[in-house]
Amino acid sequence: MLVYRVSVITGGASGIGLAVARRFHEQGAGVVIADIDAAAAKQAAETLSAGGCDRAIWHPLDVTDEAALEAAVNHTIEKFGRIDCVVANAGILLLRPAVDLSLDDWRRVIEVNLTGAFLTCRTFARRLVSQRLGGRIILTSSLFGRRGGVDNSAYSASKFGVIGLMESLAAELAPHQILVNAVCPGQVETGMMDQLFRDRSTLTGTSPEEVRRMLELKIPLQRMARPTDIADVYLFLASSLNNYMTGQSIVVDGGWQVG
Ligand code: NAI
Repeated sequence: MLVYRVSVITGGASGIGLAVARRFHEQGAGVVIADIDAAAAKQAAETLSAGGCDRAIWHPLDVTDEAALEAAVNHTIEKFGRIDCVVANAGILLLRPAVDLSLDDWRRVIEVNLTGAFLTCRTFARRLVSQRLGGRIILTSSLFGRRGGVDNSAYSASKFGVIGLMESLAAELAPHQILVNAVCPGQVETGMMDQLFRDRSTLTGTSPEEVRRMLELKIPLQRMARPTDIADVYLFLASSLNNYMTGQSIVVDGGWQVG
């Protein structure tokens, strides 16, 4: 089997997380789709299991809730008996000029994107360490975890934080043979990008279609990423093809950074 045996994916009910769950499942892994949107998580797991296999389950999870994370660990162990990989992917976007950003909005973005990633990694890392089987942790950062951007202060700060978290975890967990890396996607065709087009349109008065067109013009590969383009990088990181890479943040942006 290419991919590690049992993977838990937060924010796994849609977009990048769902594409990762599909890729891992196709490779024979057991997957736990953990998401705050319980209905979407259930539907995603049922779709993956439709072929009759019993390797996809779902769990209602708010990544800011410590008790819910403990319950997700227990549910995974009850079903599969072990955990090999966690993908800390749940996230939210908020576009707002810093001068107009309320403390509540700032806190919400940091709470879900950074504190949620920390709590996810901490809770699952405890289990990975105690199992003594090694493992993989993959965090979703962003191109905006490498650079700032207009109206992006809270989101960008949270995603820079994810990289600091990842690098520290990689160093701490290496002696346990737990490899920790982050993926930094550029612009990916998901519900979050649709929201970005709408929000940018509201802030600038440009139509969502025009916002999209302008954005695509900046990407050397001339298109936004499909979620599967990004999921393939997670597949490599979670697989037996990666035995020595840890502590890295990998940009997958169609060349945007260098264009
Ligand atoms: P999406 O909106 O399709 O997926 C996000 C998922 O996270 C949703 O299923 C949502 O229900 C879930 N979620 C939100 N808050 C949660 C919480 N508190 N607890 C558990 N689940 C929660 O968006 P997308 O694009 O798939 O985003 C996935 C990750 O990728 C996010 O961390 C995002 O910041 C990151 N990202 C996305 C990019 C893009 O262009 N779409 C670019 C760079 C990073």
